[in-house]
Amino acid sequence: MTTKLAAERESSEADRRGREVEEQMTDEEKFSLIISVLGEVPGSAAAGTRDPRIPDDVTNMSAGYTPGVPRLGIPAIQSSDASMGITNPGYRPDDPGATAFPSLIALGSSFNPHLVRQGGEAIAREARARGFNVQLAGGCNLARDPRNGRNFEYFSEDPYLSAVLAAEQVNGIQSQGVVSTLKHYTLNCNETNRHWLDAIIDPDAHRESDLLTFQIAIERSQPGAIMSGYNKVNGEYAGGNHHLLNDVLKGAWGYPGYVMSDWGATPDWRFALHGLDQESGIQGDTLLWGKQPFTDELRDAYARGELPQERLSDMVRRILRSLFAVGVDQWGTAPEVDMELHDQIALEGARQGIVLLENDGVLPIPTDEPLKVAVIGGYAQQGIVSGTGSGAVAPVGGFAGVIKIGGAGVMGRHRNLFLFPPSPLEELAKALPQAQLDFDPGYTPAEAALTAKRSDLVIVFGIRVEGEGFDSADLSLPWGQDAVIEAVADANPNTIVVLETGNPVSMPWRDKVRAIVEAWYPGQAGGRAIAEVLTGAVNPSGRLPVTFPESLEQTPRPELPGLGTPWGTPVTIEYGEGAEVGYRWFARTGATPTYAFGHGLSYTTFAYGDLEVTGGDTVTASFTVTNTGDRAGADVPQLYLTEAAGEQRQRLLGFERVQLQPGESRRLTLTAEPRLLARFDGTAGQWRITTGTYQVAVGRSADSRELVAETTLTDALFGS
Ligand code: GLC
Repeated sequence: MTTKLAAERESSEADRRGREVEEQMTDEEKFSLIISVLGEVPGSAAAGTRDPRIPDDVTNMSAGYTPGVPRLGIPAIQSSDASMGITNPGYRPDDPGATAFPSLIALGSSFNPHLVRQGGEAIAREARARGFNVQLAGGCNLARDPRNGRNFEYFSEDPYLSAVLAAEQVNGIQSQGVVSTLKHYTLNCNETNRHWLDAIIDPDAHRESDLLTFQIAIERSQPGAIMSGYNKVNGEYAGGNHHLLNDVLKGAWGYPGYVMSDWGATPDWRFALHGLDQESGIQGDTLLWGKQPFTDELRDAYARGELPQERLSDMVRRILRSLFAVGVDQWGTAPEVDMELHDQIALEGARQGIVLLENDGVLPIPTDEPLKVAVIGGYAQQGIVSGTGSGAVAPVGGFAGVIKIGGAGVMGRHRNLFLFPPSPLEELAKALPQAQLDFDPGYTPAEAALTAKRSDLVIVFGIRVEGEGFDSADLSLPWGQDAVIEAVADANPNTIVVLETGNPVSMPWRDKVRAIVEAWYPGQAGGRAIAEVLTGAVNPSGRLPVTFPESLEQTPRPELPGLGTPWGTPVTIEYGEGAEVGYRWFARTGATPTYAFGHGLSYTTFAYGDLEVTGGDTVTASFTVTNTGDRAGADVPQLYLTEAAGEQRQRLLGFERVQLQPGESRRLTLTAEPRLLARFDGTAGQWRITTGTYQVAVGRSADSRELVAETTLTDALFGS
């Protein structure tokens, strides 16, 4: 792992080289570096038309291509999407397929930074094998709204958990000599009419939530690039938001890398003056705004002196220094790609991302009994559900099925039910060799109930396709699945529900079933992992990275502004909850969710004891975790701030995933990131801790207080 000092040294050396090379470049060469073209012209009549700037010998096209400057040793910049693996949006007919890793919300459930880093390393190895030197990864927007179609591409609702995990995906990718982004800067927390969405938030609360996520993640990973979001923030497009880009990111935080726009998110060349360094996917700008501002308009502005030479040089130097900082220009032979190893990493991510929400003891299913087991719905006979949009990965050997769903806007044609092999049914048959498995498609409640009635046990799947460009209209499962689950549970009380969704869902049938498992979009190894958890081969250890509300009434915005308005309608969403996102909102309102942030059951039990807490300029807590059950398992004890100098305020201060044998104990010490104990003082432009008594708790979730203590902190004004 690069130490911070080493990273800073690399960065300053890279900055020096960036300046040196930029000084040798012609204006035309500089102009060519500040744009990227899509491998395929989106929405064009002749889809698959390649941009003339991509040389004929370049076949591994994907999200972005920027011509290099060979005479100066600057390679072409080739980017692909990467959240869950290397994507192939149809531009590479000869691509054999990539590892389809679990969704980020599943990795968020693992609370395992090391695992996320391993996934990043593997993704980067598969990127290098294709010549991609930039990965559009590091999705770390907060899951503010359980309807947001892209929450599966983000880690959690909490700034600290999201920052720690996003940083590790970036570290994993960049350790392989590939630049990574963090995205989408910022407040890209809904998909409804995202290109015309204005996200409104109190600036100080913004600093304590979404911006703090980026700030901590940048400090922990030095991403070469930041991708700005489609939306506006407080009236200014994120891609041209002078305050967020120049005052905060590059000013207060001193970020040395470059800001790329999202694809088709640059309506105006003046974004270059407000902090944007590269216009991405310029054909998307033609589609949405009827122009490509960083090609013609920007050149004219430069000629008129409206774009200062120093600013054009700065844009180019930032791009170059980020390529040099990770060694994109020093690539030797590509690292070996071991797809077996990558499949194992995907499997481990799926295993650790599965959350056991409810279990009355029906799980694990005994594997040595001749049970009649009904497996119902969710296309469980065919495969595992994935999220849709730019992050969708085409697995090796292809999908087990693709069912078109469609919808409005530019992402409608990408909205499909993608199914990865192997199917849960196949994997359950292997895991339950003595059982007689009976598949029912869950096509109607009546038909499914007949299958359930004649079985000893029922495993019913509930799925929901979610993805980029769409927010769900409510929290229900689509296609009448709730009625099927209800009918099945009425027909047979021994019912287990397995969910494959990208967000929390409502559960009207919850009191009628014996167990509930949330598998999210677990990637290509999800079928295996689900079977292993249901049969006890793997002890579930996932913990919820998002709160499961009883209903939307419990959330800050029961009605989502703009939902259902035609594509292109301007929308304004007031994020009035400010920094009180998710569990913090529930702490504020006192409502009780269906399942709290951090919740997750195990097949063993854990106890916490001997809490010692010290204060001063931050909080340090030590305590002991013991596996009090009869089988090995992993737990994720969490440390929360519950009250700050007399003010009720809940913040996740720390967590650690521990694997323990039966009877084994481990003493843990967690030290809080001080900014989580502070408020942001916008007037001072700094973080302020107020003298007083700070209450903390160690728990299994945001609403559990297994151990409590208090300490005092002293006045402090720090950071930026
Ligand atoms: C998309 C996404 C972004 C992705 C980019 C390139 O629309 O918003 O996450 O990296 O375009 O595909």
